[in-house]
Amino acid sequence: MVTVTMKLTSRVQHLGCLLALCFLAQVLWDIPGVWALDNGLAMTPTMGWLHWERFMCNTDCKEEPDSCISEKLFMQMADLMDSDGWKEVGYEYLCIDDCWMAAQRDSKGRLQADPIRFPSGIRHLANYVHSKGLKLGIYADVGKKTCAGFPGSFGYYDIDAETFADWGVDLLKFDGCYCDSVEQLADGYKHMSLALNKTGRSIVYSCEWPLYMWPFRKPNYTEIRQYCNHWRNSGDVYDSWQSVKSILEWTSSNQKTIVSAAGPGGWNDPDMLVIGNFGLSWDQQITQMALWAIMAAPLLMSNDLRHISLQAKMLLQNKDVIAINQDPLGKQGYLLRKEDNFEVWERPLSSLAWAVAMVNLQEIGGPRSYTINIASLGQGVACNPACFITELLPTKTKLGFYEWTSCLKTRINPTGTVLLLLGRSQTFKKLP
Ligand code: GAL
Repeated sequence: MVTVTMKLTSRVQHLGCLLALCFLAQVLWDIPGVWALDNGLAMTPTMGWLHWERFMCNTDCKEEPDSCISEKLFMQMADLMDSDGWKEVGYEYLCIDDCWMAAQRDSKGRLQADPIRFPSGIRHLANYVHSKGLKLGIYADVGKKTCAGFPGSFGYYDIDAETFADWGVDLLKFDGCYCDSVEQLADGYKHMSLALNKTGRSIVYSCEWPLYMWPFRKPNYTEIRQYCNHWRNSGDVYDSWQSVKSILEWTSSNQKTIVSAAGPGGWNDPDMLVIGNFGLSWDQQITQMALWAIMAAPLLMSNDLRHISLQAKMLLQNKDVIAINQDPLGKQGYLLRKEDNFEVWERPLSSLAWAVAMVNLQEIGGPRSYTINIASLGQGVACNPACFITELLPTKTKLGFYEWTSCLKTRINPTGTVLLLLGRSQTFKKLP
């Protein structure tokens, strides 16, 4: 009798342990950060500035001294990131894109900066950027050449990683042009990740691996997440509504594959913010800012900080929207509903809060009303039994308490967005 009881007890205990283990495994599985690239970086999406969309491959410093890719351009941007409030709200990484290199490697096989445009060299630029309390990003390519035709890193991964670490670089954008095969592409991205880690310097690793993989086969995001801190999925952003719209379309149509891959340490990268340039209307700029926050996207502006409207600056520096983007829970949002040319996106946040973005995609006519059942938001729990709703964009307004059974009516401009924060109380989320 005694033995039977003991056996039963130990079996029950065994089962209890098993269940506890299953639960633990489930909890760990639900935290994507556990499986991220283990370099401790990008626990929230990277914020900063990247030259490509606005300045491209302008190497003509004679004709265009103020907009060519040169150390002067980056020093000026560093000064402004420091003095004009950008650093304060989180924009930290000042990133060089393609076209910084000299046409040839040096005699020891190391990459070198163009001597005319970067006469003091990258190490000096990194020191300058660090002296402003910022970090420096640089660009290279996994294949034989960069997309603009400068020396590629194929065959030089270790030496290039060491060079960047030696110069004091803090982020590497690694492009995927001029690869001979998808195997070479994948091996190259992995090799560079390990090479960066081996240097011992903390270097954020920004990949374009899935973008170059998609035409051949569906990328394995679990694997990509183990090697990269963020990864581009879709084509280059242009300074146009058409471009922003197509990135959103790509993201929502692939959300089943990509959303769960994002989390602290690794993020989907829908490309740069083009707010403050020429191509987006005010409403479209609001849409880009709101949706990049919902998507937990890296916030890498590509604009001219020397010439930017106060309105665009206020939008890019909006602390409430940045707090959504940088939410520590690190869960990417998704498209919840699409009807009558409206889209509703939502993102779960820490402290049981939710962000909701409603976009009016109709490009004819004026502002349109959209009414939403509160119960349908936040998987039915965001406002159960009630929540406090604040409109963050276009204008910060406290809308008040809403019960689970109530409706919310908004008016949204064509191609514009209304961004809401659904919280448990009136207190606003603050930047950490
Ligand atoms: C593209 C890349 C752009 C930019 C450009 C530089 O392939 O997606 O973001 O880096 O190369 O040549």
